[in-house]
Amino acid sequence: MSAQADKRTTRFDAEAASYDASKPYLLPWADEAAKTLVSYLPKTSQQPLIGMELGCGTGLVSQRVLKSTNPPVAFILGVDASEGMITAFNAKAAALAEDNGLVSPGSPLTLESPPRGMYAVYCMIEDDSSLRQSVAATPFADVLPTQDFDFVVSHITWHHIRDLNAMAKHIWRLLKPGGVFLIVDYEKTSDSIEFHPPSGRSEVEHLWGFSKDDLRGHLEGAGFVHVETRDVLTFERTGKDDGVTRKFTFIGAKGVKE
Ligand SMILES: C[S@@+](CC[C@H](N)C(=O)[O-])C[C@H]1O[C@@H](n2cnc3c(N)ncnc32)[C@H](O)[C@@H]1O
Repeated sequence: MSAQADKRTTRFDAEAASYDASKPYLLPWADEAAKTLVSYLPKTSQQPLIGMELGCGTGLVSQRVLKSTNPPVAFILGVDASEGMITAFNAKAAALAEDNGLVSPGSPLTLESPPRGMYAVYCMIEDDSSLRQSVAATPFADVLPTQDFDFVVSHITWHHIRDLNAMAKHIWRLLKPGGVFLIVDYEKTSDSIEFHPPSGRSEVEHLWGFSKDDLRGHLEGAGFVHVETRDVLTFERTGKDDGVTRKFTFIGAKGVKE
């Protein structure tokens, strides 16, 4: 792992345990990302869908997408490069599964295949074998999906990924034909760099965020078709370091693997 990736992981490790409680503004963001994803999923599927969340954090988006009944979603594999986030995600996954009567207390997954609910693995996807290797290192290697996903979602993670064109191609290969990839991240504007206060910029790869054309380019360059972009949500935020209130917009870009 590179020094840059270490820094990124350490920051999220430190935040993970109190992430949801200390950042209530994330909840409407996750609501809108989940709604946007579900709006793009095929409604004709007979089988409940199996998805992946890239940079899943504590599972705020995954837990919402799992509630979808049209189409039904069976399982989401969370993938994150922070061990702290994985621990938080899987504690939430176990609690949700117990609530739904899917597993016995203490176990995050049933051993049925495909599994139901959500489960996260530590992985920095860098090549086509890294997700398989990460899954193989879990006690659930026999039941967790590693390819042929119906959808992949990335919510405010894309700006952390170093090589976006390579990552878009990895995601394309992980999807089944007809599979949907949705990126939601902040829009590039004259002051979008302020989305991260100066004190928290060092570990961020794409500080200015993205234009809709940037995201379209990543998706089309990887071979995605039926690419659509849209505004997802606009909100105001006051800078931690300078106290100035600014407006930010999250944009979404969806592509389909033909
Ligand atoms: C801003 S958080 C967003 C988390 C979650 N998607 C949410 O909406 O709450 C970004 C997440 O991406 C993860 N991340 C950053 N770079 C990554 C990479 N190369 N591979 C996997 N995860 C990564 C971080 O560890 C962090 O959990």
